[in-house]
Amino acid sequence: MTGPIGIFDSGYGGLTIMKAIVNDLPQYDCIYLGDNARAPYGDRSFEAVYQYTRQSVQWLFSKGCRLVIIACNTASAKALRTIQQQDLPSADPGLRVLGVIRPTSEVIGNLSKTGHVGILGTKGTVLSESYLLEVQKFFPGLIVTQEACPIWATLVENNECDSPGTHFFVEKHIRHLLSQDPAIDTLLLACTHYPLLMPVIQKYVPSGLSVIEQGPIVSASLVDYLKRHPEMEIMCSKGGHLRYFSTGDPADFDLHATQFFGQPVKSQHIDLQ
Ligand code: DGL
Repeated sequence: MTGPIGIFDSGYGGLTIMKAIVNDLPQYDCIYLGDNARAPYGDRSFEAVYQYTRQSVQWLFSKGCRLVIIACNTASAKALRTIQQQDLPSADPGLRVLGVIRPTSEVIGNLSKTGHVGILGTKGTVLSESYLLEVQKFFPGLIVTQEACPIWATLVENNECDSPGTHFFVEKHIRHLLSQDPAIDTLLLACTHYPLLMPVIQKYVPSGLSVIEQGPIVSASLVDYLKRHPEMEIMCSKGGHLRYFSTGDPADFDLHATQFFGQPVKSQHIDLQ
């Protein structure tokens, strides 16, 4: 039986990945799940992120998804490997779960001229060192400096994308990151929430530096994956139907998502606990 592509994030951030996927692959059905009631994940323990992510992925499988994209760096860093190695082998052999760190690490070195890249992410992603490990596999000489931005995802979840406090925290972390390595010419937004702060981020990034968001990278990688795996491609239902679910308040979700996509979004509430 075919099913929609599942896209999961702790909250609103995964919408930045979904937008790129829908743009590049409009023929596929997709289901989005935001665990807004428990977001942000950034400061949560390994065990909590793993349990929440596992529940969310299982829920997407129960809705008929065969392929789930974990559109969240924190969950990709803390839960993806355990889900792939421990949970999937005992599940239906036709189910797949992909993350966002690997596809980003595969290309990030190509985007820098100086060979110095800065990574902005949640505390969970930064402390996991997943990017340091993954990027070294593809670009051994690349100099990578990380900066945890603990409050940025919370600001997005609370619809504070352009408040004075947001300007303060965005400027603070960009300045701190660049002061550690002035040769950085490429800044990776390694949290899917951060592109929602793009206008403010751009204000504090010196000209000449590139700010990279993951949506187009992850989407291009999915296009390639589906070409290389026709057995999975055939399991993805077509029709272009998009559905949205949130563990939080559906009215809040609809407001955020409608603003972000520029077209009406109607979500449904679900409970995962
Ligand atoms: N969007 C998420 C990420 O890419 C997580 C933000 C959070 O929940 O802290 O890391």
